[in-house]
Amino acid sequence: MKDYFGYAGKVCVVTGAASGMGKATTEMLVDLGAEVYALDWVEVTVPGIKKYVHVNLGEKASIDAAFAQLPNEIDKFFGIAGVSGMKTDYITTVKINFISNKYMIEEYLTKRMKDGGAVAFIISSGGLRWEKPDNRRELQGVVEAKTYEDVVAELERRHLQTAPGPLGYVFSKRAMCYLVAWHVATFGQRKIRINAVLPGPTQSGMTDEFAAMKGGMDKLLESSGFAGRLATSAEMAAPIVFLNSDMASYISGELVCVDFGDNLRQVAGLIPDTFDFRLFG
Ligand SMILES: NC(=O)c1ccc[n+]([C@@H]2O[C@H](COP(=O)([O-])OP(=O)(O)OC[C@H]3O[C@@H](n4cnc5c(N)ncnc54)[C@H](O)[C@@H]3O)[C@@H](O)[C@H]2O)c1
Repeated sequence: MKDYFGYAGKVCVVTGAASGMGKATTEMLVDLGAEVYALDWVEVTVPGIKKYVHVNLGEKASIDAAFAQLPNEIDKFFGIAGVSGMKTDYITTVKINFISNKYMIEEYLTKRMKDGGAVAFIISSGGLRWEKPDNRRELQGVVEAKTYEDVVAELERRHLQTAPGPLGYVFSKRAMCYLVAWHVATFGQRKIRINAVLPGPTQSGMTDEFAAMKGGMDKLLESSGFAGRLATSAEMAAPIVFLNSDMASYISGELVCVDFGDNLRQVAGLIPDTFDFRLFG
């Protein structure tokens, strides 16, 4: 049988590989014959991985230490780790969900991705409407900042140290959408693709925190629309594995909303738009 996905023997790096979507992605990649370097702050026990690498994505020095243990040439990068903001403050939430990914791209992936490689992130439907001009203006200062420290300074300049973690979740996910757009050109020059999956509500290690945020599991289920159930983590792993595979060789700069059609109905004005709000008044 032809290897349509083309993962056999490919060096793949996955963050958030210990649980949920990252774990499901790691399992699929191992099955497809990839050499998987599995990053998380919790030990990854998926059989068949090449190496578990400990990392705290909330700390720049820990990211540097993790990359010191990774190969110099990477074929496919999967940025999946994240937190809901229910247990972390605003700045820590943004560091884990956004600043770490920006730093990994700009400090390491620009140098280590092989020509023709692919980078993909799990973002969130919570990042939708990032492209509205008012929202984009709020994101510009952090997405286009030069260094890790500049991003943190910009958040502190806006006095976000005491803002609630869940607001940091929405901000970080919107910033990630912009970051993907920003780096299409960076990677495109070397024929490296960059894409993302924006999941709707999904069964994972984070489900209880999202249920609490929505006001109960019933409310969370309601937001799953016509699916009538939460997605499984494997149902989000499948599209990100596709996007980074040879099957998607002409797809770059795509933010794929995997929510069983809810966002499209909102964009079409068929149901109220729940994502169209300003974060900063
Ligand atoms: N579950 C949902 O409903 C949902 C919906 C939309 C988007 N997402 C996003 O999906 C991604 C995957 O989350 P999940 O739902 O599979 O949840 P999960 O909690 O099962 O997995 C998240 C993983 O990230 C790791 N992680 C968290 N903080 C870390 C840190 N500082 N350093 C290293 N590793 C860290 C965790 O240990 C865990 O293994 C996240 O980015 C999340 O924001 C989730």
